[in-house]
Amino acid sequence: MKIAVFSTKSYDQEYFEKYNNQYEFSFFETSLDSSTASLAKGFDAVCVFVNDTVDEETIAILSKKGVQLIALRCAGYNNVNIEAAKKYNIKIVRVPAYSPEAVAEHAIALILTLNRKTHKAYNRVREGNFSLKNLIGFNIHGKKVGVIGTGQIGATFCKTIIGFGCEIIAFDIAENKELVDLGVTYLPLEEVFAQADILSLHCPLNQYTKHVINKNAIALMKKGVMIINTSRGALINTADAIEGLINEKIGYLGIDVYEQEEDLFFEDLSESIIQDEYILRLMSFPNVLITSHQAYFTKEAMREITLTTLENIQAFEKNQILKNEVK
Ligand code: NAI
Repeated sequence: MKIAVFSTKSYDQEYFEKYNNQYEFSFFETSLDSSTASLAKGFDAVCVFVNDTVDEETIAILSKKGVQLIALRCAGYNNVNIEAAKKYNIKIVRVPAYSPEAVAEHAIALILTLNRKTHKAYNRVREGNFSLKNLIGFNIHGKKVGVIGTGQIGATFCKTIIGFGCEIIAFDIAENKELVDLGVTYLPLEEVFAQADILSLHCPLNQYTKHVINKNAIALMKKGVMIINTSRGALINTADAIEGLINEKIGYLGIDVYEQEEDLFFEDLSESIIQDEYILRLMSFPNVLITSHQAYFTKEAMREITLTTLENIQAFEKNQILKNEVK
């Protein structure tokens, strides 16, 4: 099978070259959308990531070019039009759980960094500034942590942060009994907003969760709340979050994902004039920490993503049951 890999970075290529000895991969740096889809001519499958735009127009072109499989090398699939893929008889597979620990641990890294300001301390000390002024944090121990979405990543996050001695309150459309046994309390969404000192988002992006953090939700929250988003950017209404930061309702914001990240994340734009006013405003706050969709980025996760993608392709090639199919 011939596979066109889009949005390729050197590390993606490195892992595929390390583990693949069966298939013919071609690596494209460009992302996939309707303007680049014709590059897939002559390929059986495309392999895409979080910021490729696999909408109906793109899928129609892929189908015309002979593509039969879209292999996502990620868990979320909000960027793929599933109905359109069905219409054009193209299968979609994904990597449902390559390393929930990687993402949960990054969420905790954001919490700890924002709270204890280690990023600022690092810079200060390098400049010979040993002052502690404005570096004061708070104990995570004893705080109420609200978790929205307790699937693979949310559950791992709960189990990990329990070790800090936090009280965990959660909202999900389906309760996880194991977490209840561990002491997690499920509450209505509004109650989680109202009670949490730290709020961490781990639900998928869909029509029900888009902008779940908006003006009304922020109004319910405690003053000084810490909000962490390692899930998908559009869970947060960015304009409303900026307003919450300006009026100091939001005390800390840690985001690994951003609504308009497609044009920014994964690229070195250090010599460019960034035009996105929202990200520039977010970058200006001292209590906002932004990482560039790197929560998944561990050696273990990269290995798992590569191996599961190869298994998914193999199952398709051999006409076997696609256990990771997105329907
Ligand atoms: P999962 O499918 O195991 O869990 C999602 C949970 O959200 C489920 O328990 C589900 O019932 C719940 N949920 C669905 N609709 C909901 C709603 N309306 N309100 C509250 N909860 C709802 O998914 P997993 O593996 O835990 O991943 C979660 C998300 O994390 C993914 O959808 C993806 O967007 C994001 N992600 C981010 C990564 C990063 O590098 N930043 C890497 C991997 C995933």
